[in-house]
Amino acid sequence: MSIKRRLLYAATAISVGAISSLSQANEPIQPIEPVKEVNVALAELGKKLYFDPRLSKSGFISCNSCHNLSMGGTDNLKTSIGHNWQQGPINSPTVLNSSLNLAQFWDGRAADLKEQAGGPIANPGEMAFTHTLAVDLLKSIPGYVHEFRLTFGNDEINIDQVTDAIAEFEKTLVTPDSPFDQWLLGDEDALTADELAGYKLFKDSGCVACHNGEAVGGSSFQKMGVVEPYQTNNEVEGRVAVTGVDADRFMFKVPTLRNVELTYPYFHDGEAQTLTEAVDIMGRLQLGRQFSDGENAQIVAFLKSLTGEQPSFQLPILPPSSENTPPPQP
Ligand code: HEM
Ligand code: HEM
Repeated sequence: MSIKRRLLYAATAISVGAISSLSQANEPIQPIEPVKEVNVALAELGKKLYFDPRLSKSGFISCNSCHNLSMGGTDNLKTSIGHNWQQGPINSPTVLNSSLNLAQFWDGRAADLKEQAGGPIANPGEMAFTHTLAVDLLKSIPGYVHEFRLTFGNDEINIDQVTDAIAEFEKTLVTPDSPFDQWLLGDEDALTADELAGYKLFKDSGCVACHNGEAVGGSSFQKMGVVEPYQTNNEVEGRVAVTGVDADRFMFKVPTLRNVELTYPYFHDGEAQTLTEAVDIMGRLQLGRQFSDGENAQIVAFLKSLTGEQPSFQLPILPPSSENTPPPQP
């Protein structure tokens, strides 16, 4: 049974109840649920803001620059490039299925997507703007003034509305219907023998202890380097930056493995170029297990079966600037 769920915003539905009656109901990974409740007007506004580079100081960088929806919601760079070509300290995680994460950022310092969305606009190494300047800029664009009024029913534009809208759009960026989901939902032919063998290895060796649930990750913070320490020149220390607790040094949010085929390079420092390398490191450092080349290839085949249907929508046409719109700055 292949279930096509194309409608991005609609309450298309296979119900949760339906899943429990299917054969693969007791797996540690669950199929991605389609988007259920989305405020369409708010998400449409958020889509424009997501793609609008005028929210950056240079007028050149949008959310989509580093979370490119044509590239699995990432920039495919080791670490991101921000304002004035600054090389950032950390790899850009995918925005796809990010609504399923227990918290946002590698160290979980933002509780949810709304809180997260305020960060990059004002981050000097990313979009390098301020919230006040971003709001003033939006107020100078008649098309936005009109759309904010229609969406929120008042004449105000503030950063709270901006982050609300972006977060609502991000809620739509889920990727159901991967071959693995089709298999979970009962289509025995959806996976090849290698992909199935890879899934068995993934389960039996213990990867699912950390990479589980709907997002195959995103649900806990774990130490990078459980059995053997991870060697890196990157100075980011993980969750300790949020909690101040020494035991949280080198703890990172376990990344989702949904669409991992598209989101290279891997790890918070972007040091693993390929899935083969990432799987080898995970096996040795997290589980003390050295996979043979054949086993590694089967796990990689399984991971590639987690590529779901990518968000598809009409590109937003952004309302033009006016004479009052502040020009971009160097
Ligand atoms: C993290 C969205 C702009 C680079 C994130 C996350 C989300 C997100 C949801 C957390 C994902 C997760 O933890 O799994 C956005 C939105 C943006 C935006 C809505 C626009 C308002 C940018 C830009 C850059 C960038 C312009 C690059 C210059 C990064 C990086 C991280 C990140 C490096 C990881 C940072 C860390 O964990 O410390 N972004 N992003 N983002 N984003 Fe963005
Ligand atoms: C990252 C696969 C076991 C915790 C990753 C990544 C892959 C992966 C491909 C990179 C994802 C990305 O950067 O987007 C696997 C496989 C496993 C396994 C195949 C079994 C062999 C585990 C276990 C844990 C764990 C058992 C917890 C103890 C993490 C963490 C990261 C990660 C914390 C992020 C590390 C960092 O960026 O520094 N895993 N994993 N993984 N995994 Fe696993």
